[in-house]
Amino acid sequence: MMLPTELRRAALLALAEPDPVAKCDAVRGLRAIADNIDTTAALVEPVGIPGRPVRPELVDPHQLSTRGVHTPERRAILLHALAHIEFNAINLALDAIWRFADMPEAYYTDWLKVAEEEVFHYGLLTAYLADMGITYGDFPAHDGLWRMTARTCGDVLARMALVPRTLEARGLDASPPIRAKLAQAGDHRAAEILDVVLRDEIGHVAIGNRWYRHLCAQRGLDPLAEYEILALRFEAPILRGPFNVPARRAAGFTEEELAALVKRAGVGPLPPRAPSAFAAAPSPSAP
Ligand SMILES: [Fe+2]
Ligand SMILES: [Fe+2]
Repeated sequence: MMLPTELRRAALLALAEPDPVAKCDAVRGLRAIADNIDTTAALVEPVGIPGRPVRPELVDPHQLSTRGVHTPERRAILLHALAHIEFNAINLALDAIWRFADMPEAYYTDWLKVAEEEVFHYGLLTAYLADMGITYGDFPAHDGLWRMTARTCGDVLARMALVPRTLEARGLDASPPIRAKLAQAGDHRAAEILDVVLRDEIGHVAIGNRWYRHLCAQRGLDPLAEYEILALRFEAPILRGPFNVPARRAAGFTEEELAALVKRAGVGPLPPRAPSAFAAAPSPSAP
């Protein structure tokens, strides 16, 4: 695919690309133009985004079961569901780049880094699935992540609050029990892939926190109170826990925010701060 030489326009074309291999190639090409960002252009949304292949068939989440990992087929279904989340995550990172104008350049390069890492995760999972004889699209999938992305298309503040800081953060909580199940079933390769993904996802949530706080400061909003308002307005899922508190701390949630999270879920109190396994995770500096 011939891409434009300006980052936001090129991200939009990559988002529109339906073929996963071509989409991943397009994302890999973005780094070369990362210093050419038109931050002010209001780009027009084309029909048909996000581009995605005909399969997987998208179904209601209740029709899907990813429970149990003790047979190769059950493991393949689970890993396929994770690959689908990564495919959607590539799209949501590209959408954050093209859609929202008038952000600092660092916002766009942060989301480019996210898009590159989602391509990497998608590649790890689909390569492993290929060893099992499975191709992305072989099982049905659901569309929850993209639906919240679409709902928050009108405001970058809502997008940061509800996609990286809510849905991707939920991935931090979901990862340890899934990893434990896979390791227990003897699938150490899958467990290793989950370790890589979790490490990077802490960085993605941190990027969500960075720009959420930047926008709250710019608009004179209190981040804690504003989150409650946005979560209600956009019907964010209520997170039930258990929460991966060390990973959430490494991703930059404040103690107040974590206390509100566990209170809302009716679990708690917060475990005390301890030397964290994620202490070395990248934490973006203030914009
Ligand atoms: Fe990812
Ligand atoms: Fe991510």
